Amino acid sequence: MGQTIAFHKADQLKAKPDASGLGFGKHFTDYMFEMDYSLDEGWHDPRIVPYGPITLDPAATIFHYGQEVFEGLKAYRTEDKRILLFRPDKNMERMNQSCARLNIPEIDEEFVIKAIKKLVAIEEAWIPSQPGQSLYIRPFIIGTDSALGVHPSATYKLLIILSPVGSYFGNSMSPVKIYVEDEYVRAVKGGVGYAKTAGNYAASLKAQTKSEEMGFDQVLWLDGVEHKYIEEVGSMNIFFKFDDEVWTPALNGSILPGVTRASVIEMLQHWGVTVKEKKISVNKLFKKAEKQKLKEVFGTGTAAVISPVGFLKWEDHVIKVANGKTGKLSQKLYDTLTGIQTGKIEDKLGWTQEVKVDHEEATEKVQPKAEEAPEAVKTEDKPKEAKAEEKPKEKKAVVTD
Ligand SMILES: Cc1ncc(COP(=O)(O)O)c(C=O)c1O
Repeated sequence: MGQTIAFHKADQLKAKPDASGLGFGKHFTDYMFEMDYSLDEGWHDPRIVPYGPITLDPAATIFHYGQEVFEGLKAYRTEDKRILLFRPDKNMERMNQSCARLNIPEIDEEFVIKAIKKLVAIEEAWIPSQPGQSLYIRPFIIGTDSALGVHPSATYKLLIILSPVGSYFGNSMSPVKIYVEDEYVRAVKGGVGYAKTAGNYAASLKAQTKSEEMGFDQVLWLDGVEHKYIEEVGSMNIFFKFDDEVWTPALNGSILPGVTRASVIEMLQHWGVTVKEKKISVNKLFKKAEKQKLKEVFGTGTAAVISPVGFLKWEDHVIKVANGKTGKLSQKLYDTLTGIQTGKIEDKLGWTQEVKVDHEEATEKVQPKAEEAPEAVKTEDKPKEAKAEEKPKEKKAVVTD
């Protein structure tokens, strides 16, 4: 793609939120990345601009037919003040798989990783550093054509926004209560379940609300055809420890292939634990639990990393897992993965990528200058004329807080 990323400075920067009450996805940083697609130009005009509303035609494809894909990953601050991303290549690979399913033009994975790194480097002051905190990165693509015919959009927008997020669990991991959902389904084979796209989440809301009203934290999703086989838990993948083996539902087209799921499987295999990816019926799960073979259950995902399950309800049957406590393996996986993500544990598997901040460049680029055009921030790719320079909107920037 070899393009230059333009940098439009904000007039004013926001006050940073109190680090003790960040929550998830409630605060957004000063800048976002934006880039457009058209049939003539392909993906073009990459730019970092002040965070803010975008204008779309009310007939835009995204509003009516949900042509959208997104990703979720995090930047972590290490004790020695480095910034690490966890397997961003995996997220970009999955984004392109989602694009292919949603009929959205492919992105240049390496270029978007560069854009993420550039944006995170500019926003480094927003990366919280308390245990469990991180900077959540949300890249997404929307269809922007203004036309009501059901047809793939010819134009798209790729945006990346950043949100400082708090620890998922507070001080220690707490197991969740799960309701086995046997009426609503999240996705079906042949549909879009394996893609990270808005519609899957819209389809999950009713069941999530129902489970919360019943006093549960999340639902266990079953397959969409027979309502028999286990797929995912809430918006996480799921694992079961039966005696000394770990089982997880095999990817089947309706399950999202989680980056954390892949990492847990690789880590367990690295430790010599037998992992089986297979079709697991809810009936079998409850039978094994009755025979005292079920030792641990946990969900995996970017937000929580590992989320132990302490209680499961299916029809009239209930299971209390590991006495409602966090199991040893769940804790070990959590400690190891978060240790690698935050640089406390050596990354022997090469999963992290460092974001380099060029302090000189950052200072230079963000100094206020009178009525300037947006500055071009070079990627290591061959620079190409940045179109954004033709239409300066923001005047000057002050990076002080
Ligand atoms: C439906 C669903 N399943 C699984 C996951 C876990 O994926 P990852 O480990 O890549 O975050 C997520 C979160 O992204 C999700 O939304």
